[in-house]
Amino acid sequence: MTPDRLRALDLARGLEATAGNLAKVGAVVGPSDAAWAFTQWRLRARARSKFSEADRMLFEAEALEQATHETVAAYHASRFPQATLVADLTTGIGGDLMALARRGPALGYDTDPSRAELAAHNAGLVRPTEVRVADALGAWSFDHAFADPARRTGGRRTLDPSMFAPDPLVLAARMREIRLGGLKLSPLLTDAYLASLGGELEFVSFGWECREALVWLGSGAGVGRCAIKVETGLRLDAAPSSRFADEPGAWFYEADPAAIRAHALGSVEQLGDLAQLGESNGYLTGDEPADSPWLRRYRVLETVAADARSVKERLRTYDARTPEVKTRAVKIDAETFRDRIKLAGKRDLALALYPAKGRTRCAILERS
Ligand SMILES: C[S@@+](CC[C@H](N)C(=O)[O-])C[C@H]1O[C@@H](n2cnc3c(N)ncnc32)[C@H](O)[C@@H]1O
Repeated sequence: MTPDRLRALDLARGLEATAGNLAKVGAVVGPSDAAWAFTQWRLRARARSKFSEADRMLFEAEALEQATHETVAAYHASRFPQATLVADLTTGIGGDLMALARRGPALGYDTDPSRAELAAHNAGLVRPTEVRVADALGAWSFDHAFADPARRTGGRRTLDPSMFAPDPLVLAARMREIRLGGLKLSPLLTDAYLASLGGELEFVSFGWECREALVWLGSGAGVGRCAIKVETGLRLDAAPSSRFADEPGAWFYEADPAAIRAHALGSVEQLGDLAQLGESNGYLTGDEPADSPWLRRYRVLETVAADARSVKERLRTYDARTPEVKTRAVKIDAETFRDRIKLAGKRDLALALYPAKGRTRCAILERS
């Protein structure tokens, strides 16, 4: 970073991006560095939800959006041995590269020179880190690598993996030849595609969302499929459901989205004496209260047909306010259903709509 840009960042700190402030800072460092500094502060403010060091980092809007949250990146990095060089093949602004650098020596690659420069600055806050402006598919002189292929073409997100850059199929083939390669992909990709890459498959849960599918390849990778909670490192192996109930018992549970995506509901059932509710593929029930980070628990008040008018009548008897509505595997839109149940009571209740025996059922629930 040039001394003028450093100065501009200092001068623009805490200032609103008004024409007057831009002119004031511009008078010292020139209009272009002043505009750059105000943009950096705007992006830093946005980045604080992803990076605890955001106010010292440098960003570019699209690359910030694509950057891995630091908690998730720390999990990626934790899979690699310490004190061993790990290459981040698709560095972007360096979300993953910073986490790798915290763990040990790291090396970055990006074909975009300005991103490579930002990443070198950001990872440099942790330790001096080389970022090469080069195609990650050149010759590899390392045995550990991570890649988070770009999923955009022409500024739009794509879910066609053959459009990702670099192509995950090519990366996977290369990673199979090294000690450990990690590939971050969208969890919305099909099971068949993810399985075609081979290796170990993890579905990442963060903030009760399934954030990504991670494919681990190479001689040091494991096998099988699981869900992983990156906040705690808890894992849940894939296992098919074996217990089903058409009507809920005393307790209703929502399973973590990553557990559902990993096809781990059989393991979720084992967390208590639980059965899958109807054909919901993600709601569970039991008669005893079970407690687990993989579950959100509700007390069941009653179950009725999913007819908005009669549900509203039942909710009135509980003195409920407009409820939260959740749905699984039904055609009903949760927001539309909720719009038909406006109530002004005092009690916070929730509704869960799910299919059972060819009918749509509605469980009236209270969060526990
Ligand atoms: C999704 S971003 C990576 C974000 C990064 N993991 C982070 O946490 O900030 C993907 C990056 O890969 C880069 N890229 C695409 N094709 C590449 C290639 N063949 N070699 C190196 N980098 C590439 C893009 O320029 C983009 O910056």
